[in-house]
Amino acid sequence: MRIVNRVFELREAIKTWRSNGESVAFVPTMGNLHAGHLQLVSTAKKKADRVVVSIFVNPTQFGAGEDFETYPRTEREDQEKLAAENADLLFQPSVADIYTSDAKTIVTVTGLSDLYCGASRPGHFTGVATVVSKLFNIVQPDIALFGLKDFQQLTVIKTMVRDLNIPVEITGVDTVRESSGLAMSSRNGYLTDAEKKVAPKLYYSLCAARDTILTGNRNYADIEQQAMQFLQQAGFQPDYFSVCRSSDLKKADAEDMDLVLLVAAKLGKTRLIDNIYFSR
Ligand code: PAF
Repeated sequence: MRIVNRVFELREAIKTWRSNGESVAFVPTMGNLHAGHLQLVSTAKKKADRVVVSIFVNPTQFGAGEDFETYPRTEREDQEKLAAENADLLFQPSVADIYTSDAKTIVTVTGLSDLYCGASRPGHFTGVATVVSKLFNIVQPDIALFGLKDFQQLTVIKTMVRDLNIPVEITGVDTVRESSGLAMSSRNGYLTDAEKKVAPKLYYSLCAARDTILTGNRNYADIEQQAMQFLQQAGFQPDYFSVCRSSDLKKADAEDMDLVLLVAAKLGKTRLIDNIYFSR
């Protein structure tokens, strides 16, 4: 696996592949790779001739007082994992490689970026959309893969790609879970041993709400309220629990068939998110 830091080096490598008629899949990450990321890479391997992975802890998607400084950086381990997964190229730029100090352009997917996680983390999805559009322009992949665990992020990116006619196919890949049901996340490493025992209840709350809906209950406001109460009693500080239409994340009504349940909650100092999607 080749490792490059500079945009021009990456472009040279990709130009060579393109001249051989090879297709390119792209997996953007912030590093601290776990089984969920490696699943993205192994899926990418099946979909294209070459796989590029980026590791870039993007400062613009962290708010003031969030964990940008302390976000786990595990460069050596990440490189070993990606090499073992047969990724072709790792792009590991510095902040200065990605952002010029006088940059004047940002990308905002309006509306969608202000809901749910966007409401609690103002500017977060503008940071995500801006860096992902920049990375797309740098790599120019045929296909890009993202985890379905960040369902709202994936919806923001799909909307951006549609609205800006970016020529890339976006693929969502299923969430990888611990045997307890806890969705894999780089932030799980912040949990204490005691919190690790409680954390799987987040997924349990989603499964319980889904099962209630599948038995015919359409009182979504009530289901949301009960889930919030359950999480509070379990020791979380719930942020939101929402029954949404999976297509555009608007609040679901009784007619909607394709649903996603979105949840975010703090456990101690750690903010966890998860979701479950299904057709009823
Ligand atoms: O999901 C992530 O790791 C990040 O939000 C992403 C998509 C790599 C953009 O920085």
